[in-house]
Amino acid sequence: MHYSEFGLSNTKTLLTRALRDGYAVPAFNFYNMETLNAILAAAEITQSPVILAVSESALEYMGDDILMGLIRGAQYKKNSIALHLDHGHSFESCKHAIDLGFSSVMFDGSALPLNDNIKISRRVSDYAHRFDVSVETELGQLRGTEDKNTKSDSNIFTNPNMVQDFVKQTQTDSLAIAIGTSHGAYKRKNKNESLRFDILERIAKNIPNTPLVLHGASSIPQKYIKDIDKFGGDIKNAYGISPAQIRRAISMHITKVNIDSDSRLAFTSAVRKTLYQNRAVFDPRIYLSTATNEMTKNCIAEIQNIMGSGYKI
Ligand code: G3H
Ligand code: 13P
Ligand code: ZN
Repeated sequence: MHYSEFGLSNTKTLLTRALRDGYAVPAFNFYNMETLNAILAAAEITQSPVILAVSESALEYMGDDILMGLIRGAQYKKNSIALHLDHGHSFESCKHAIDLGFSSVMFDGSALPLNDNIKISRRVSDYAHRFDVSVETELGQLRGTEDKNTKSDSNIFTNPNMVQDFVKQTQTDSLAIAIGTSHGAYKRKNKNESLRFDILERIAKNIPNTPLVLHGASSIPQKYIKDIDKFGGDIKNAYGISPAQIRRAISMHITKVNIDSDSRLAFTSAVRKTLYQNRAVFDPRIYLSTATNEMTKNCIAEIQNIMGSGYKI
C-alpha cells in the first residue's frame, strides 16, 4: 500500500519546511501500541509534525501486520505525521518498508566501504522516488550501539569535503552526519565534551539545501536515571547531549533529530516507580498507562524545549 492511503505525510515536505523555517522535526522511535500512542499524543498536544521511527528490530518485534494495523488505527489525519524506517541495512529491508506503506526510509551504509554505501544508497533512492518516498542516508559513523545489527566503537566524523559529491551520487533527500553524538544512554566520556560544530558548519555550507539529520541526540534526563536506580534498577554514569548543544545544532541546519533512549528511560522509570510504589498491582494496563503518559510528557518537553516544532503542522 502507498503511505498516502494511511494519511501519512511526505517526509521530505516536512523536512524542507523545517529547514526553511529553522526548526527540527523530531523522529521518535516506537515499538508497540503504548509508545506509538505516547508520541501521537505529544504531537497532538503540541501541534508538532513528528516522524514515527521504526528500526528493523522494532519491525521484527511487532510484525508487519500488527505495525500497519496500528498505523491504520491511529487518528492523525490532520497532523503532519510520517512513518520512517530507521537504520535500514539493506536494499531489501528498505524496499520492504516502502512496499508496506512507509513514507521514508533510511539506508544506513555507514559501516560499508564508501563505494558500496553510494551504490546501495542510490539503488534505494531510485526505488523510493518512484513512489514519492523520501530517503535518508549516512556518511560518517556514530559511536555506540544502533541496534543489534550495527555496533561501532569509534566515532568517524563526516568529512565535509565529501558531502556534496555523496548527495549528488546517491540522490538522497536528507543526510545523517557524525559530529560527536552516539547511540544509547552512555554518550559522553566527560561532561565537557562538545559536538563538532566546526564540522557541522562546513557541511551546511557545502550542502545548504539538504536537510541534515542528527542521530544519537538523546539528552538522557537525569531525573529518569535517578528514578530507575531508586526503584530497583541499575544504570550508572549515563549522560547525554545537552539540550543547549542540540538547539545550537538545529540553528545550524540540523533538521531531523532522532530520539529513542530518552523515551525508553521515561517509560521504564514510570513502570518501575508504579510497580515499586504499588506492590499489589498486576494489571499491565495500570503501569503501561502511567508509562505512556510519562513518555508523552517527555516528548512534549523535547518538542517545546529543543526542536522548536510546536504549532508547525
Ligand atoms: O538507533 C536506533 C534505535 O535506537 C533503535 O534501536 O533496534 O533496539 O530498536 P533498536
Ligand atoms: P538515542 O540513542 O540518542 O536516543 O538515538 C536514537 C537514534 O539515533 C535512533 O536512530
Ligand atoms: Zn540512529
